[in-house]
Amino acid sequence: MSTCQPFSIMRLTHEAIRSGLNQLEELNKDLSAANAGSLKATFEEVKRVIALHANQEDNAFYPPLEEKRPNLTDAFSEEHEAEHHAFDHLTSLMDDLPENRSNLPQVKNAMSEWIAQHRDHLKHEEDILMKVLPKAFTYVESVAVVRSILDYDLDEFEQFQLAWVFERLKGPQRKVYLGMLKGCSPAGKYPDFVARIRPLLHSDEHISYEQEGLFA
Ligand SMILES: [Fe+2]
Ligand SMILES: [Fe+2]
Repeated sequence: MSTCQPFSIMRLTHEAIRSGLNQLEELNKDLSAANAGSLKATFEEVKRVIALHANQEDNAFYPPLEEKRPNLTDAFSEEHEAEHHAFDHLTSLMDDLPENRSNLPQVKNAMSEWIAQHRDHLKHEEDILMKVLPKAFTYVESVAVVRSILDYDLDEFEQFQLAWVFERLKGPQRKVYLGMLKGCSPAGKYPDFVARIRPLLHSDEHISYEQEGLFA
């Protein structure tokens, strides 16, 4: 029996992004010259993960969904567009951090506004889009859509996003994520993904995943 839930990729990537947003919020709460460098580095990572996730959505997820439910995704593409502007604004505000502290109050405000805005976006997608998926796609269609999501920028997924997301998932979520990869990886890629994930596993996860045939 397959344990693959194809669209768990979207939901679980959101969970990992939420964990990154929480980390940013913590740093931003006590923003000072001392932790400005950490905020900037964490923001760059979160931004990179969101950039790939949004590109996957715009190019590989929304188009097949539009075919099933016309005009459903317009509002979300607009939210992505607004996000690009917020990213540009924050990136320029943070450009000369941590050396130049004069921007810290503006960074703090813009960061907390953007975090709230992005949390709303994640929830909006979950409340509207994710509820439609089981009715809109057959299982076979879902696997094909998720395979093309993974294929969209395979290098960036494999080199960065895969481990970044997996590290931030909790035990049961990790297993679902791995099951999704096993069922939906582009041809021949699953062993490479497993090789990336193995070093991140605790020893009990190693044993149980092995026993359940999740690495095969
Ligand atoms: Fe999105
Ligand atoms: Fe999303």
